Amino acid sequence: MGQTKIFEALMTITRVCKDTKLSFKAKLHLILTEVVRCMNTEKGSIMILKGRKYLEVMASTHPELIGLRQPIDMKSPSSWVVKNNKVLLINRMADKAIFGNDFHHYAKEAFLLAPIQSNNRVVGVLSVTEKMGEDKFSQSEQEVFLSIAGQVISALENHRLTESLKKSRSLLNKKNIELKRIEKIRTELFNMLIHDLKGPLSDILANIDILSYTINDNNLDYVKAAQAGCDTLYRMISDLLDIARLEEGNLKLVFEEIEPEDLMNEAISRLHTLAKIREIKFIKKFQPSERKNKMYGDRGLLLRVIQNLLTNAMCFSDQREAVEVGFEFRDSDKIIFFIRDNGPGVPLEFQDAIFNKFVQLSKKKDGRKYSTGLGLTFCKLAVEAHDGNILVESDGIKGSCFKFILPIINREIL
Ligand SMILES: Nc1ncnc2c1ncn2[C@@H]1O[C@H](COP(=O)(O)OP(=O)(O)OP(=O)(O)O)[C@@H](O)[C@H]1O
Ligand SMILES: [Mg+2]
Repeated sequence: MGQTKIFEALMTITRVCKDTKLSFKAKLHLILTEVVRCMNTEKGSIMILKGRKYLEVMASTHPELIGLRQPIDMKSPSSWVVKNNKVLLINRMADKAIFGNDFHHYAKEAFLLAPIQSNNRVVGVLSVTEKMGEDKFSQSEQEVFLSIAGQVISALENHRLTESLKKSRSLLNKKNIELKRIEKIRTELFNMLIHDLKGPLSDILANIDILSYTINDNNLDYVKAAQAGCDTLYRMISDLLDIARLEEGNLKLVFEEIEPEDLMNEAISRLHTLAKIREIKFIKKFQPSERKNKMYGDRGLLLRVIQNLLTNAMCFSDQREAVEVGFEFRDSDKIIFFIRDNGPGVPLEFQDAIFNKFVQLSKKKDGRKYSTGLGLTFCKLAVEAHDGNILVESDGIKGSCFKFILPIINREIL
């Protein structure tokens, strides 16, 4: 047998084994075609062990045989190969006697079978029968045949790996879908629960408000403290709910025309109680431009962004400190809001992290009883839902300036 022929056959088989687009059966068929051509035989087949009892024809020069199962008994040559894990070469008719009269159908004399092994265990049989021309397999043909039997295993292993990968991928997908379903139910339940807290809390707030007008001055401080506590709780609940909605893209923004000065004043007045308790003085730096003094956005959301930033500024500042609040129009299409305090500042390495959920730098000395580390996360999501961005500027020693920049494009008419 010519060296070139062998080389070509091995190259083709290697290429076929590696081809990820071919199906397993197509691979075996191409390998067999190459083996039969190379060994110069009329017939050939590749059989694979199914369990311990059967060999199934996976590829054959006679397509009608594909899928047939042959029980493993000592009588057939392929069973002999499986049981003995050895190559079977019959060059002379006389040798066939060891199997009785079971393969009288082989017209020509010579046939060659090799075990297909994986980890030293037989997993199949590669066979060629009815050699054409010279009625004998030469030594070099036998060697090539063995090496091809070795290659078949690589196709098998590739197939097994791909199959097991497919299985684990689909298992992972299923688990993922199930996890997402459970997570969705959990989130919905959680949101429902949080949402239901708002009702009774609004009742408490309304009643405390009535009480604050009727109570005598000696007890007013207690009522004010209760009011501030309820306000904080209400803000925390709203932040939690809106973070979930914004993350899921379920919060529809209602855009309207807004006067920034008006927006800031309303946010400040809503925090009147806390500002009074902490004796904070607000310095307003509003710079409406000559041509522009309007912007567009979801008023409710933006109010709460400013409230969150103002609350932080007041809580992280010392008692009786000043907090600067303002805005300015930038370029032709942007507005920047800023809230500047003289608190402890935010170190550079945490200036991104504080916008993540539940990140709090230290147990504060701000006297707040309740805080969750969700305020800035809400601000970031709400600002980003307006296609804006938010950041903090601070030297990490004294003072922070929180800024958020929004496009002033009119979304009402978009
Ligand atoms: N003005 C500020 N000065 C110094 N540190 C700040 C300031 N604002 C925020 N931080 C830091 O960022 C952290 C996160 O702020 P965020 O508003 O998200 O949460 P929180 O105020 O701790 O709790 P919550 O707002 O949910 O009640 C704060 O705990 C604090 O460490
Ligand atoms: Mg906060």
